Amino acid sequence: MERLVVLITGCSSGIGLSLAVRLAADPRGAYKVYATMRNVAKKERLMECVKGSRKDTMDVLQMDVTDQQSILEARDMIKEKRVDILVCNAGVGLIGPLEVQSLEVMRQILEVNVLGTIRTIQAFLPGMKARRSGRVLVTGSVGGLQGLPFNEVYCASKFAVEGVCESLAILLQHFNIHVSLIECGPVNTNFLANLRRPEPDEETLTRVDPRTRALYDTYLQHCDEMFQDAAQEAEDIAEVFLEAIRSQSPALRYYTNSALLPLTTLKLAARDGSQYVKSMSQFVFSSHKAQEP
Ligand SMILES: NC(=O)c1ccc[n+]([C@@H]2O[C@H](COP(=O)([O-])OP(=O)(O)OC[C@H]3O[C@@H](n4cnc5c(N)ncnc54)[C@H](OP(=O)(O)O)[C@@H]3O)[C@@H](O)[C@H]2O)c1
Repeated sequence: MERLVVLITGCSSGIGLSLAVRLAADPRGAYKVYATMRNVAKKERLMECVKGSRKDTMDVLQMDVTDQQSILEARDMIKEKRVDILVCNAGVGLIGPLEVQSLEVMRQILEVNVLGTIRTIQAFLPGMKARRSGRVLVTGSVGGLQGLPFNEVYCASKFAVEGVCESLAILLQHFNIHVSLIECGPVNTNFLANLRRPEPDEETLTRVDPRTRALYDTYLQHCDEMFQDAAQEAEDIAEVFLEAIRSQSPALRYYTNSALLPLTTLKLAARDGSQYVKSMSQFVFSSHKAQEP
């Protein structure tokens, strides 16, 4: 049986790492995984996790999705000279009142989440098209399906990814290439640690009006609660990826956390949107009443 060649971005931690380990440890040895990361000095955790798996099921490659050259160099290192399954997973969060975000940081987020995803797909699409076969899987987010306060730029990036994937999916079915978004709610990874955010004592943040700051504090508590109560493990997400990979007829969207679906459904059903906006506001700001200063 010819092994399926899988390339995954952002494998130094979290979802990318778990998926790489899960596929490399496949008992049938069905996959050859190219686990890519922007800083290969971080590969130790991944290597520790695959210890004991079959030999030759994983190679680690350097790939920074913001660096076109590194994508092309990684592509050239693939021994099989093809990728059957491309997983665009690398991503970074950004939180905080919009008015404090610098253009530079906002650009970096869009650069990784949007252009990084597009660049990676661009590099592997011609090969898939030529072979009339392939899978593109992308780590999506609830933040790409509905807006979340204090996540405006992150949501913009993830909404953009939805648009890219949905548009491509329509075209690529003519090439027998399937595009799937794995839509995640909160997942216990390094995402929160890696999240870009203004420091609480940052001067720009102290200049924000008191009402916004109070709502921001309330929202941060809501996030903590969501991660405590509803977060999934990266291994659970890897299983959803596997479901998509194994499907003969993969869906465009897989929702990993059914607990979050009612709000998404409410959004789609809302006629003028205002009821949905009120419901979301209640959801994110109700657990701790933001004090009117
Ligand atoms: N965790 C959640 O709650 C959650 C929810 C919804 C969606 N997601 C999405 O899930 C994906 C994976 O995140 P995660 O939760 O697994 O968080 P994570 O543990 O922080 O992993 C993110 C990965 O992306 C990599 N990365 C960042 N910038 C990169 C770049 N320029 N080039 C290549 N790799 C880069 C990171 O590498 P470094 O180690 O070098 O930084 C890391 O390997 C992201 O797209 C995120 O938006 C996460």
